[in-house]
Amino acid sequence: MSSSSSPALLDKDFERFKRELPRDFPAHIRDAYRIDLSARYLGTPIPHPIGKGSGQLSLNTGQLETDAEAGLAFAVLKTVIAQDAGGTQSMAAWAIHETKMKVERRGEGWTVTWKGRGWDRSFDDYLALVRAGRDLTRDGRLLALPSVKYHLPRLDEPFRDDEYGFTTRALAQAWGESPLLVEKDFSPTLAGDALADEKSQILRWVVEIPRRIRAHAPVRLAMKLMNARFDDPFQIQMMAAAQHADALVVFNRLFDSDRKVAYGGPELSNRNLRVLEQWPAVRPSGRPAVELCGTGNVSSGRRIVEYARRGCSSVQLHTFFQLPLEEYPATDGSRTQRALHALIFDPHDGLIAAMLEQEAAGSLARAGGELRFLDLVGEPG
Ligand SMILES: Cc1cc2nc3c(=O)[nH]c(=O)nc-3n(C[C@H](O)[C@H](O)[C@H](O)COP(=O)(O)O)c2cc1C
Repeated sequence: MSSSSSPALLDKDFERFKRELPRDFPAHIRDAYRIDLSARYLGTPIPHPIGKGSGQLSLNTGQLETDAEAGLAFAVLKTVIAQDAGGTQSMAAWAIHETKMKVERRGEGWTVTWKGRGWDRSFDDYLALVRAGRDLTRDGRLLALPSVKYHLPRLDEPFRDDEYGFTTRALAQAWGESPLLVEKDFSPTLAGDALADEKSQILRWVVEIPRRIRAHAPVRLAMKLMNARFDDPFQIQMMAAAQHADALVVFNRLFDSDRKVAYGGPELSNRNLRVLEQWPAVRPSGRPAVELCGTGNVSSGRRIVEYARRGCSSVQLHTFFQLPLEEYPATDGSRTQRALHALIFDPHDGLIAAMLEQEAAGSLARAGGELRFLDLVGEPG
């Protein structure tokens, strides 16, 4: 297939896949378009860059099964609040039930109102979900890993290592294989909490937490950094301080302190992309760049390319998997399938179209006849 005949094929695929997205669409794309969507999340090769961010869409095995069927690349389980052996949770304020979610327009995009709370069922229930995720991961059907909110001390307080220890060991045991893959969540509501008023306090967390977790089990750790309520240079400072993680998820949602809710939409992606653009010039030299996973208002393949161009080898979405059904061009299939269909195959804004456009503009070249997603990121594939 020459790249000049690709647009016609794309129109045709977009139409026919409205009814059913093939499970192995990355193989079809490689074959038909000579485009290799291979990507990476937390050191793990994945067939394409699109995953699901932690939240209400990864609370049970049914949701994970649907995602595996749809061909999603990875899913991060809802954030659990760490506890010690006696069940005490220093971050218990975040372990309450989420009452209402509302999907609404925000500027040119969408947002889901969310008060930013974590897993509200038992820790044993969470471990059962981790085992289900591990099984899907092991079978190569869907990389599905846990997310934790661990104790965050004030500057004059010690870390509660008993919570770090008990939770990490229990997760590692449930995961079964070494290393445990896990995300550490710094939630946007934390940004709105008095705990996050001080820069030095936040920087201490991001510097020390990898070591606190690693003391209890071999882990591969992604830290999902918050959008703190400071300026862009502080976001960069946080990234620089977080270099002991294996990957950074950049960046969790913005916090509306009047409405006391976390929000997304264009403001979120604008801020995230703006900060990421500055990162290469200032990141610490002399060591390999820490892997980045983009999050925030990813609602098109074009946006995925924007995050990739700024160093993200994968993306994780939430809101776009939650839109009213009539917002997706597909007519059948699960929400995950419909979302993937639009993100990948939309003839104007999908990932294939956006990559072909990069090629036409001379900013992405074929290697061995193929366009490669990871070449956008600027690292060896
Ligand atoms: C309803 C809802 C619940 C969420 N819960 C969590 C969570 O428990 N842990 C977490 O790290 N992120 C959570 N997030 C953040 C998302 O994973 C995602 O990073 C963020 O919403 C930005 O992506 P988006 O613009 O595609 O929604 C949640 C988001 C929403 C909308």
